[in-house]
Amino acid sequence: MGSSFVNADYSDLVDTSQVKIPSSPLDRIIGQAEAVRLAKISASQARHLLLVGPPGVGKSMIAQAMSFYIRRPTEEIRAVHNPLRPERPFVEIKSAAEIMAEKDEESSIEEQVLDPGDAPPFAAERLGFRCPRCGFISSFTETVCPNCNAPKTQVSQSGPFGDVFNVLGAAFGVQNNTDRVTSTRRVGDKEEVVIYERSGEKIKVLDERALEKKRKQEKKSPSKVIVPLDRNPFVLATGASETELLGDVRHDPYGGHPHLGTLPYERVVAGSIHDAHQGVLFIDEISHLGHIQRYILTAMQEKSFPITGRNPQSAGASVRMDKVPCNFILVAACNINDLQYILSPLRSRILGSGYEVLMDTSIPDTPENRVKYVQFISQEITSDGKIPHMEISACNLVMEEGKRRAKEVDHKDNSLTLRLRELGGLIRAAGDIAKTEGASLITSAHLKDALKIYIPVEEKIKKVYGNLGAAYDIENSLSQKSNQYEMPFHNYNEDRSYL
Ligand SMILES: Nc1ncnc2c1ncn2[C@@H]1O[C@H](COP(=O)(O)OP(=O)(O)OP(=O)(O)O)[C@@H](O)[C@H]1O
Ligand SMILES: [Mg+2]
Repeated sequence: MGSSFVNADYSDLVDTSQVKIPSSPLDRIIGQAEAVRLAKISASQARHLLLVGPPGVGKSMIAQAMSFYIRRPTEEIRAVHNPLRPERPFVEIKSAAEIMAEKDEESSIEEQVLDPGDAPPFAAERLGFRCPRCGFISSFTETVCPNCNAPKTQVSQSGPFGDVFNVLGAAFGVQNNTDRVTSTRRVGDKEEVVIYERSGEKIKVLDERALEKKRKQEKKSPSKVIVPLDRNPFVLATGASETELLGDVRHDPYGGHPHLGTLPYERVVAGSIHDAHQGVLFIDEISHLGHIQRYILTAMQEKSFPITGRNPQSAGASVRMDKVPCNFILVAACNINDLQYILSPLRSRILGSGYEVLMDTSIPDTPENRVKYVQFISQEITSDGKIPHMEISACNLVMEEGKRRAKEVDHKDNSLTLRLRELGGLIRAAGDIAKTEGASLITSAHLKDALKIYIPVEEKIKKVYGNLGAAYDIENSLSQKSNQYEMPFHNYNEDRSYL
């Protein structure tokens, strides 16, 4: 628990606001000692993990907490334009160090930024800042000088050096238009080319070295980051569709036409398996994935998976990017009944390089575990954020209920249930009652009240109808009667005789 509260007698406390909640998420998990231990090992050793157990015992909580123990990703994944075959973009993997180096390179382009008034007059004039008549500097958006009312010429193809500038500009692959002026200047005893470029209301000056670097950069094939370096290493893939899980290439109505369309590399979208590269891919209810499990298996074996357009009607279908890395730790959860629907080669993969855990459904009712239970109550109240804290006497009642449930549901004597989601519901119900009464703490009275309300609807049905069977019979015959006249709402729609 990481606080002085460990093994303390919680009855020293007045209410749950005095409980210190651990900052590390795995320490917030009550019981489940084996699962927590293996989760820590899985995270630090990059092993797969399958958590098996009933709802609400902490499977998702454990999986989520693992991201806390995983190292930050060190690689970024990019889609790079392939000029020879645009529909087969290349994949590029860049390390953090390489990305840094690239950024340095970019920022090392030495370009000076000048106020128009500080630039050579001819450049300021050509870029539309300086009045050719009076020399007054104004915004390039003003076509008439605010000082002398003379028109400011922005496009000036004439002039004694016009042609020379154009030739020099062409040599450097730039056009001599109104937002770029090419000129020369003397550095020592050498003539060098300088470009004055409009940048908002300022003028950028690019010398030969800067131009050289810029040209190099422009020559590089364009690329798009599809999995950024700075990402959450915990990826939740619950109920994900095939495209979400495996990636996709978006449709382009212009079919990637070189002038109208969006190039294929720009339309590549990574899947959850790629986002989870160097992290955790958490799949809840893994058996529900059905045939998609096969793709997960392949991805785990190859540690890479192609991204391709998954909709055959779409222009994306002809695009494929091979070998996109997806080296993830698989953390999967499922309940006991669904274990049989997990693909056996997938389970073999998990066992071959990881662990399978059966979650506990109860813990022995010991003083230490009661302390943890109080911690649990405090956590639930804190994370809910809408209800007041709980008096210790009421906590004792929660524990009695936990004990009763361990006995009734799991047939465990002297134990406390770990089916904690539902117990959390009881705590919130008591909290809501306290809140509506304006009470500053949840008391035993609130809890007793909640216990009356917070029972499964089947229990309530039994009270009203005698037993479940009788309830079904009564309601069935009623619905048959109304069906004689077809469905009631159908009648309301059809019968318009009153209109
Ligand atoms: N062992 C536990 N320790 C502390 N809190 C728990 C524990 N188990 C469950 N809870 C509480 O119950 C909530 C639900 O738990 P969780 O989502 O982890 O259950 P699950 O096992 O993933 O259930 P499901 O099978 O329905 O997905 C948690 O957010 C937490 O508030
Ligand atoms: Mg869950």
